[in-house]
Amino acid sequence: MNVLVPRAAVESNGQIASKTLVQAGITGLGHRVPDRILTNAELETLVETSDEWIRDRTGIEERRIVAPGENLASLCEAAARSALENAGLSALDLDLIIVATCTPENLFPSTAAQVQNALGARCGAFDLEAACSGFVYALICASQFIATGTMKNILVIGGEVMSRYVDWTDRNTCILFGDGAGAAVVSAVEDGFGIIGFDLGADGSGGELLHCAVRPTETNNAQIFQNGREVYKFAVEQMGATAVRALESCGLSGEDVDLLVPHQANIRIIKSAAKRLKMPMEKVFVNLQKYGNTSAATIPIALSEARQSNRIQSGDTVVLVGFGAGLTWASAVLKWS
Ligand code: UT7
Repeated sequence: MNVLVPRAAVESNGQIASKTLVQAGITGLGHRVPDRILTNAELETLVETSDEWIRDRTGIEERRIVAPGENLASLCEAAARSALENAGLSALDLDLIIVATCTPENLFPSTAAQVQNALGARCGAFDLEAACSGFVYALICASQFIATGTMKNILVIGGEVMSRYVDWTDRNTCILFGDGAGAAVVSAVEDGFGIIGFDLGADGSGGELLHCAVRPTETNNAQIFQNGREVYKFAVEQMGATAVRALESCGLSGEDVDLLVPHQANIRIIKSAAKRLKMPMEKVFVNLQKYGNTSAATIPIALSEARQSNRIQSGDTVVLVGFGAGLTWASAVLKWS
């Protein structure tokens, strides 16, 4: 059972611990996307494609791409500053920083350590890699430290610079991806609110379907490969299924959901997930037409925009659903406080 409810903690070294679990929730949100817009029309000049094909098959109209001087850490830092301001906290209030990314500038040091330094935070920092499911994985990871009372405020960032790893001669993939970062502050919230259910999963047997190999002996080697049709089938099946499992873990169903915030990969995949959950599209947040697929960043950017546009009210049940390379999937159910 994946439900996080306050209750007497189970044993520790054979004894019943006196602590109770604390509810963890999102208390601040922010995002940053590069200013540079790459339109479908511009892509027509790079590969044999058309604006009509891209819109029909994906729903994407444009995406953002980093300009010289911008990088993953700078996008993450800007998103983080905005989330901290929204939460009313300073960097010194942070106990941990987790950056979910699959497009780091370096294998090491971590992007999280770069963000820690840029913010002037004094806390631990690490990266987490679960591709497009990464933000939800990181959110659930952070919530465990809050639940046990060992930490008070954790910054969870989903950030990607997909444009660095895209093969700009491959029309199957280059039309899909974009750059950006979204951040959430995770802290204790009132009982009954915050993260009330989740589902995490992986099936590494599908790893070859969507991958980006690093071969240190070659130059310009790391490029995204995707078997679009197979990933599409996996996504249609798993996106609804993981959301249902997360909802069932806290005794809810699709009819109880006020807002679905799905991974923004393809409008057709999102529509099929909404159908499986018996949810009208009015209850689904979609912004992929503006940003394309920013991998681990899609969900926190969408959440941040949903908050800014008052699509989320106190007491709402919000479901986050991600899926992607690994293959991985991840869902979280939140009662907004
Ligand atoms: O976050 C990561 C998770 N990834 C995903 O969620 C992606 C899942 N997959 C998809 O979203 C879709 O499979 C794509 C959008 C990638 C492709 O759409 P599709 O409807 O599955 O197209 P397809 O791969 O079946 O290709 C149909 C045709 C092919 O031509 P033929 O073989 O029928 O002659 C492709 O070569 O469309 C062609 N095609 C294109 N045509 C114009 C593929 N890419 C393009 C393009 N422009 N960019």
